[in-house]
Amino acid sequence: MTARSVPAAFVRAHTRVRRPSSVPEVRLHVADDVVALWEAMEAEDGGAGETPPFWAAAWPGGQALARYVLDHADAVAGRAVLDLGSGSGLVALAARLAGARSVLASDVDPFSRTAVGVNAGLNGIGGVGVTGDVLGRDPVGIDVVLAGDVCYDREMTERVLPFLDRARAAGCDVYVGDPGRPYLPHERLTAVAVYEIPETEGPGLRRTTVWRLP
Ligand SMILES: C[S@@+](CC[C@H](N)C(=O)[O-])C[C@H]1O[C@@H](n2cnc3c(N)ncnc32)[C@H](O)[C@@H]1O
Repeated sequence: MTARSVPAAFVRAHTRVRRPSSVPEVRLHVADDVVALWEAMEAEDGGAGETPPFWAAAWPGGQALARYVLDHADAVAGRAVLDLGSGSGLVALAARLAGARSVLASDVDPFSRTAVGVNAGLNGIGGVGVTGDVLGRDPVGIDVVLAGDVCYDREMTERVLPFLDRARAAGCDVYVGDPGRPYLPHERLTAVAVYEIPETEGPGLRRTTVWRLP
């Protein structure tokens, strides 16, 4: 089997259902033991060397962005939303709960795309489509781009920023949730909200900002 068609049963078998601390409205399949899950992913895909299971956690940037759209539903209500780097689908699901007309969740990882569908079903949320890498294209039919924790390394940031700029130039509203990663050009963004997101491991808080492209 290739990872192009990850069964929903895999996600259910290797995760637990939890509510992200800052977004208790949504339930997600998340991993307690990321290393064990990663090994299981490699076994599932014939040892193909998968990327880490980013999809099995609610990242601080995603939690902040999800919190923001739930508390500011007018940002997405009635609009077509792209959740870029969707991971678990947390932001996509929050956007639908906030009244988005439709949501497209984009992630390169086929495990993520299956997890988004499983998590949507878990929450009884429809209207969430999934797709792969859209960064080389222009956003079409999208009103709002939501990007939670996508600037986690330099290479990814260098691919994401031109896409976000093109989306903004095409008239989309663009929001980025970010826990202070160094690659994001904060000087050309506008902060619209700041949240203290509890860390997944440990008692600390992660100051996380929702930025908007002006
Ligand atoms: C740090 S995780 C954030 C997940 C989610 N947004 C959250 O905040 O919980 C980043 C995600 O970006 C995805 N990703 C990496 N490159 C991508 C690309 N070119 N297009 C879409 N997603 C990508 C990864 O697979 C991963 O799921």
